[in-house]
Amino acid sequence: MATSGKVIKCRAAVAWAVGKPLSVEEVEVAPPKAREVRIKMVATGICHTDEHVLKGCLPNVEFPVIPGHEGAGIVESIGEGVSSVKPGDKVIPLCVPQCGECSFCLNPESNFCQKSHICEPQNLLPDKTSRFTCKGKQIHHFLWVSTFAEYTVIPEYAVAKIDTAAPLDKVCLLGCGFSTGYGAAINTAKVKPGSTCAIFGLGGVGLSVVMGCKAAGASRIIAVDINKDKFAKAKELGATDCISPRDFNKPIQDVLIEMTGQGVDYSFEAIGLAETMIAALASCNMSTGIFVMIGVLNAGTEISIDPMLLLTGRTWKGTALGGWKMRDSIPKLVSSYLEKKFNSDLLITHTLPFAKVNEGFELLRAGKSIRSILLF
Ligand code: APR
Ligand code: ZN
Ligand code: ZN
Repeated sequence: MATSGKVIKCRAAVAWAVGKPLSVEEVEVAPPKAREVRIKMVATGICHTDEHVLKGCLPNVEFPVIPGHEGAGIVESIGEGVSSVKPGDKVIPLCVPQCGECSFCLNPESNFCQKSHICEPQNLLPDKTSRFTCKGKQIHHFLWVSTFAEYTVIPEYAVAKIDTAAPLDKVCLLGCGFSTGYGAAINTAKVKPGSTCAIFGLGGVGLSVVMGCKAAGASRIIAVDINKDKFAKAKELGATDCISPRDFNKPIQDVLIEMTGQGVDYSFEAIGLAETMIAALASCNMSTGIFVMIGVLNAGTEISIDPMLLLTGRTWKGTALGGWKMRDSIPKLVSSYLEKKFNSDLLITHTLPFAKVNEGFELLRAGKSIRSILLF
């Protein structure tokens, strides 16, 4: 392409400091270095984790930063040594990379590559420099992907090539929200046919858990949220019961245990609060129940629980991106989407031009959107 090897000037949403709204700026994006890929973003979703970034609640993030981690685009140019993609390919950036070499990548049971953000901050590319500048200042990358930019540069092992038939304004959701929730049910909990499930939090992530539980053949799927506006969509996606903790004068775990006899087989928390995690843990069967935490807690939060909750046999599990080894799995999930094995489009409530990024965050904060997609 004509831009190959050159610095590109384009728009990006920069978070200059904690607590400030994003500001859409002109930035310079340097060409990709060895084993890096420069991508022209087509669409990006607004995920709750980006809101954590703006509030300064996600560990290890450095400002100023270009956030965004759920997107899809087209390869513009490649650095030396890149072999898995070429200019023109459709791709999804991976916020959990797959280097293919670390002990976690080599372990079939793990998807959490040791090059992931919690192991080693991804605010700069692997050579410890940034490809972004704005007004003469270096801007940090976010999870190596920074999808809130018209052009972004990403290490090759954090990019997955997908089917050319994929609609990028729809499959961008597979980069985080959908895959996280759906995989938490299928891969992390390993929900069995005929089982009972409870999902706390019905945002994009929680509703994807509902879809995963349904796909796995759960017979009862109980959706829990304080915002009843979310119930209609939850039912459409497979929830059999929808309840609000505010409608009861006893703890929600007691309600769920009464509804199911001994508690649910699998419970999930997709909110990010200590109190709802404890309630979700206590809602599952005291002997064989599995609780999966998905919600991201504010950095530094600690949780204390009655150890008896676990001593009787319950399991507390975490999940990162739904347990998928992303570089292997995302292309397959895109194929499943094209074969209509699931309908993640139902999570998209708003589509906005990129310039309205702050409006997208307002919709999320007000509980009015499930997923807003920004188009470049
Ligand atoms: N009890 C029940 N539901 C609650 C409560 C509560 N105390 N507080 C909030 N909720 C509901 C909200 O009404 C909303 O429907 O939780 C839902 C959260 O949804 P979103 O804000 O859309 O978040 P989402 O993008 O789905 O992410 C959820 O997963 O990946 C993480 O960082 C992400 O922690 C976040 C979580
Ligand atoms: Zn996300
Ligand atoms: Zn790895």
